[in-house]
This record gives sequence, structure tokens and C-alpha cells, in this order.
Amino acid sequence: MNIKRITFTICLLAGAFLSAQAQAVKATQFTPGTIWADNNGVHINAHGGGLLFDKGKYYWFGEHKIAGGAGNRAMVGVHCYSSKDMYNWKDEGIALPVSPDSTNDIAKGCILERPKVVYNKKTKKYVMWFHLELRGQSYKAARTGLATSDKVAGPYTFIKSYRPNAGFMPFYPEGTPDADKVDCANPKNKSEGFFCRDLPGGQMARDMNVFVDDDGKAYHIFSAEENFTLDIAELNDDYTAHTGKFSRVYAGHQTEAPAIFKRNGIYYLIGSGTTGWDPNPARWFTAKSIYGPWTYRGNPCKGAGAEITFGGQSTYVLPIAGKKDAFIFMADKWTPKDAIDGRYLWLPVTFKGDEIEINWAEKWDLNVFEK
Ligand code: GAL
Repeated sequence: MNIKRITFTICLLAGAFLSAQAQAVKATQFTPGTIWADNNGVHINAHGGGLLFDKGKYYWFGEHKIAGGAGNRAMVGVHCYSSKDMYNWKDEGIALPVSPDSTNDIAKGCILERPKVVYNKKTKKYVMWFHLELRGQSYKAARTGLATSDKVAGPYTFIKSYRPNAGFMPFYPEGTPDADKVDCANPKNKSEGFFCRDLPGGQMARDMNVFVDDDGKAYHIFSAEENFTLDIAELNDDYTAHTGKFSRVYAGHQTEAPAIFKRNGIYYLIGSGTTGWDPNPARWFTAKSIYGPWTYRGNPCKGAGAEITFGGQSTYVLPIAGKKDAFIFMADKWTPKDAIDGRYLWLPVTFKGDEIEINWAEKWDLNVFEK
């Protein structure tokens, strides 16, 4: 062995040792807005994400973004990570790849956003819903997409994409004033006009979430009517189709990025305004029934940066498994010019009675829920 070779070998060994050391440093806190390294030391790539707790582990599903502006389109698919402690995440790979076939609904280059996975106990399938825009059509298609898998981390099989609830009129919770009921013979405003226009072909379905209630019923909540209104729609027992029962929430006020959770029998909904990738004030609502009526409660964020959700936009609220009153607000800090660099803002939800607050923290850990 010559001296060059020996030096090279030593460097290789030292490199391997250092990278093993880097991986061995376990995170013990959340540091919102910073680079969040996975088990390979790579920034987590799961934007617009949602979490699923399954057999003792958390699974994080989100949009895999690539560098530059092209990263705002789906060039790879839905990325999955797993964790036992929520600070340290293992790369589980691409759970749903986009298709190389340009005629496929989820063709590479389509827009595939805000994937959410739920588990169906009856069919034993993992069910993923997402917002889909067909390739080359910008945000015109406004469809919802479905994929399922027998295994939590995938691979998921794409099933279908469509606009939900074609031909169905809304369900009106008790107490809905007649003035708020849609009359397609005589639409009263813009949002009703969009609703009636889309009645035959199905409602537009963009920013979205899926919520499973205590009784096992699942709901798909999405921005409809050119983003003017949120629809909360019942899914069938398999979670693979819409039943046609849905209510319209906060009609005409353009709410996006919806996230639902439930505490003490009250449903909470957090969303954002509609300003594209730019942050705006978050908004929250409560209801006694999932279909409403939902009451607008203002901005849950407090303190400096509250008027722009600390630079982020809601994507999910995570109930911590087995812990009472412990919920994490998850938001994306978008970087559309270099999509892959988008950051994650995870912050604890604070309760004051039934009121919620979200406060900024440079760093925090799960001990906040012990207090
Ligand atoms: C946001 C939406 C994102 C993405 C973006 C595109 O309002 O929440 O998911 O669709 O617009 O401009």
C-alpha cells in the first residue's frame, strides 16, 4: 500500500465514523422553521403533510418536492417517514410514486398536494386522499385523488380521481337559516353560483384533510367553489368514496388548508385565508356537530408574527396518542422559488377552557403537555 492509498483509506474510515456520529445525535426537541434532518441527515421532504399513528409509530406523509420552482409540481410523489418519538424521523421512501405515463391522472408533473392517510379497520387498508391537479392544467381540474395500500408505508396503488358529490345538494345542520340554503334556481352570491355550476359534475376539491371521528366515520374536508367555501363530506364505510352527504362551511369566505380535531366532544377546525404560497392569518372555528353550524372564532395565533401564522400555513393538527389535551399544530413555511427548502412549523396547541391559542416557540419539547 502506498502512502496515498493509506491516507485515502483513513479518510474513508473517518468519514464513515463522523456520519455515524451525526446520525447518532438524537433530537430531543422541536425547532420550528429550521432544517429538520431525517435518519440520513437529509432535510425531511414531506410538505403539506399529515400524520397517522399506527402500531406504536407515527407515520408522516407529505409532498416530496424537488429544487427550484419545478418542485411545486409533483415530480416524485408522496414521501413517507416514521418515528416513535416525533423528533427523529426515518426515511421510509416514496409511498405513492407519480406515474411515468403522461396520460395517467397522477402523471409526473401533475400537482399532487396535501396527502392524508387514514386506516380503515373494516377493510384493513390504509387509505390515502390527496388534492390532484392534472398535468399541464395548472389548478383547473380541482379533483380529489385516492390511493390505497395493505401496508402503512406503501407502496400505495392509485385508484381514481374525481370531483366529489356530483348531483347532491348540501346537508343543512339544524338551525341553518333559509337565507344560507342554496337555491340553484336563483343563486344569491358568487359561491352559490359556483356550487350550482359544479352540481352536475361534482364539486371542486382542493386544499384538504381527512378526519376520522370516535365512531369510526371518516370525513373529507376540502376547499370547494373556487376556494370560496369549505365542504365537510362524509366518506363511505371503506373510506374510499363520498356518500353525497356534506355541509358547506363558512361559505363565501375563502378558507384553505383545513385541519380538524376533536376535544371534549367539540370539533375544532383551523384553516388559512387564500393567498397562494404567501402566509396570512390563520382562522379557527368550533362546532358541536361535524356538519356544523361552525362558529368563526378568529385567529388562534398570538404574539409577534401571529398575523402571518408565523410565516406558515396549516396542514394538520396531530392528537398525541394516549395523551389528553395534547395536540400539535403543523404548518408549512413554503419556499416556492426553491420548493424543496420548505420548512415545518410544529407548535403546541394551548387550551384556555375551550378556547385555543397557538404561540411561537424557537424550541420546545413534549414536556409542555405535562404541565
Ligand atoms: C395554497 C395552498 C397550497 C398550494 C398553493 C399554490 O393556498 O394551500 O396547498 O395549493 O396555494 O399556490
